[in-house]
Amino acid sequence: MNNPNATTNSPRRQLGTSDLWVSPVGFGCWPIAGVSSLGVNDVDSLATLHAALDAGINFFDTAFSYGYEGEADKLLAQVIRERSSEMIVATKVGSHYDAQRRRIVDGHPSTLLANAKLGCARLGIEQVDVIYLHEVDPMVPLAESAGGIAEIVKHGLARYAGVSNVDAAQLRQFQAECSVVVVQPPYNMLQPEHVAAISDECREQNIAIACYWALMKGLLAGKLARDHQFDPADRRLSYPIFQGEAWQHAQDLLDQLRRLANEMRITVAQLVIAWTVAQPGITVALCGAKRSDQIIETAGAMHVSLSSDVVHQIDSWLN
Ligand SMILES: NC(=O)c1ccc[n+]([C@@H]2O[C@H](COP(=O)([O-])OP(=O)(O)OC[C@H]3O[C@@H](n4cnc5c(N)ncnc54)[C@H](OP(=O)(O)O)[C@@H]3O)[C@@H](O)[C@H]2O)c1
Repeated sequence: MNNPNATTNSPRRQLGTSDLWVSPVGFGCWPIAGVSSLGVNDVDSLATLHAALDAGINFFDTAFSYGYEGEADKLLAQVIRERSSEMIVATKVGSHYDAQRRRIVDGHPSTLLANAKLGCARLGIEQVDVIYLHEVDPMVPLAESAGGIAEIVKHGLARYAGVSNVDAAQLRQFQAECSVVVVQPPYNMLQPEHVAAISDECREQNIAIACYWALMKGLLAGKLARDHQFDPADRRLSYPIFQGEAWQHAQDLLDQLRRLANEMRITVAQLVIAWTVAQPGITVALCGAKRSDQIIETAGAMHVSLSSDVVHQIDSWLN
């Protein structure tokens, strides 16, 4: 659903039952944290954040653990200072890096509240629009973590709650303690299973889905050739889809997408994102970028409307 009262030319969609109207392409702040992406620097990252806004994106997704010491939040804060009225900011709590730079998952309510307070301070704001539990802590009952997120909303540090990386049973358990407006699962053409597992629940309860990895870390942007030589430091090599048969299978699909995108005079990334946000139940595709040209291209998908023939054609390649 597009916002009938929108004052921008860019499309907006209601985030679940909230009063937030967000762009179907959201900006994912993980790459600018500089932890796993190569060649990231502050000048490019700030330019990329501004380019996202200029391209019509209003939904920004960060997390307490995006950076060893909140590097993504600190960059985002610089843009919020100048353009907060154009932005809807979501963050995630429940994971952080320790002094040895090991990623720690901690879903204790006291940690969640401390993360939220420090996160807001880093962002230079008193309240974020959405706060998610980043992932389930197997050492803490989920009901306790959910109660912790509800407390954060009650404290006024966030307007709405969300939860990330849960299955349907976990979502139900979470909802019993804390009402969420949005969930954040991974999802792309080749990896639809996590959304499939929760889509009925989300539809029934009018919960938005802000999916991540629609481009699968750049793979589905179609610019990495079949024989691409990865830098050995490129952490994408650790994902199974970047290896062996799964890589070849992805490249087979990409060959078809490249031909179709070429016929439509759009890029593969735009075709992939336009398909993603046209899927029933998907409200937002969160897209990471570390350079302006990347997010300008991806945001362009918001202006691509796919015919049902094109959607069916792509679906037939996926089945
Ligand atoms: N809740 C969770 O647990 C969770 C987990 C992961 C992500 N997320 C969220 O979802 C967002 C998206 O995930 P992500 O950033 O990891 O991956 P992504 O959006 O799938 O991919 C981002 C990467 O793809 C490449 N790329 C982007 N646009 C491109 C373009 N137009 N052409 C070519 N390459 C392009 C860039 O990498 P190179 O330039 O290096 O090639 C970029 O860093 C995150 O930023 C974060 O906000 C959440």
